[in-house]
Amino acid sequence: MKAFRGHRLGAVEDFAVEDRPVGAPQAGEILLRVEATALGFVDALVMRGLYQVRPPLPFVPGGEIVGRVEAVGDGVTGFAPGQRVASWQFGGGLAERAIVSAASSVAVPGALEAASASALILDFLTAYYGLFDRGGYRPGQSLLVTGASGGVGSAAVQLAHASGGIVVGLASGEAKMRHVAALGADLVLDYRDPDWRARLKDRHPAGVDRVFDPVGGPLFEACFRSLAKRGRHLVVGFASGDGIPKLPANLPLLKSGELAGVDARYLGESDPARVQTILEIIFGLAERKRISAVIDRTFALADAPAAFESLASATRIGKVVVTP
Ligand SMILES: NC(=O)c1ccc[n+]([C@@H]2O[C@H](COP(=O)([O-])OP(=O)(O)OC[C@H]3O[C@@H](n4cnc5c(N)ncnc54)[C@H](OP(=O)(O)O)[C@@H]3O)[C@@H](O)[C@H]2O)c1
Repeated sequence: MKAFRGHRLGAVEDFAVEDRPVGAPQAGEILLRVEATALGFVDALVMRGLYQVRPPLPFVPGGEIVGRVEAVGDGVTGFAPGQRVASWQFGGGLAERAIVSAASSVAVPGALEAASASALILDFLTAYYGLFDRGGYRPGQSLLVTGASGGVGSAAVQLAHASGGIVVGLASGEAKMRHVAALGADLVLDYRDPDWRARLKDRHPAGVDRVFDPVGGPLFEACFRSLAKRGRHLVVGFASGDGIPKLPANLPLLKSGELAGVDARYLGESDPARVQTILEIIFGLAERKRISAVIDRTFALADAPAAFESLASATRIGKVVVTP
């Protein structure tokens, strides 16, 4: 089989499509014929060796995997050959076959296409876990989302809107702002507008109940200051690339507010059953068309380098998907 593999972490040029033998699934594992693997911000970090965890080498990128079951290892129940399955793991998806853990896999409903299902996995898992498990987000509450046109942010916009929330999105430029409004945001503000906080205050004079923040940077403190009393700021990521922001400790005190971390990887390590439950909820919502995957472009496995290059495009809206 063919796999896009790197023998060291670094630039995309350090990776190439190679022929590899197909392995056999061990106990608790499933062998998938890969149909689609979604890529996002995290995959580019992992490839460059800039993620919190460095994978063992050689490394095949792509952890948001959808494929058909070809074989199962000992002790695997609930999965059968031919079934379409989604799995989330550290890598292995940019290949014609992938061996995944049954504990991190769920069945994909028949109505969902492979590419769409793959594009829902990490962003919607993170957004759901952040909003509802870590954020205690409830219908009718107001939510401010940074990076609202991006993968994780746009998933938060959709999930909050679908749950009856009042959503304000921060994005840049007309096309991205229109996109965020179409996903269900009640108000979209351009974070480059120096008056965006004043506009937010016009709509929410007492502040917002929750902030969902995959961006950080200079927006971090401004967003925390936009919280209502007893509000909660969910720290999801630092996509701005401006380093790790700091917060004066008097601000949580003055707000009776909270800062809560959201780490989907930790959830996967500590509670894989919860990951399965959340993915089942997400696929159910997608099947009922309450949420939908946003895909910017789809590439063949041979074009995996171009797929990684397109991740860095400033005009990208949505996931990049590779279909081996
Ligand atoms: N905690 C977790 O478990 C978890 C899981 C997945 C991802 N993440 C993290 O979440 C972050 C976003 O990932 P993603 O896949 O959503 O990335 P993405 O699709 O590339 O989106 C990034 C978003 O950040 C916005 N952005 C970038 N620079 C900005 C700036 N200086 N000011 C304001 N907005 C800015 C972009 O909006 P514009 O284009 O409008 O600037 C875009 O909407 C990353 O840091 C990633 O590592 C965390």
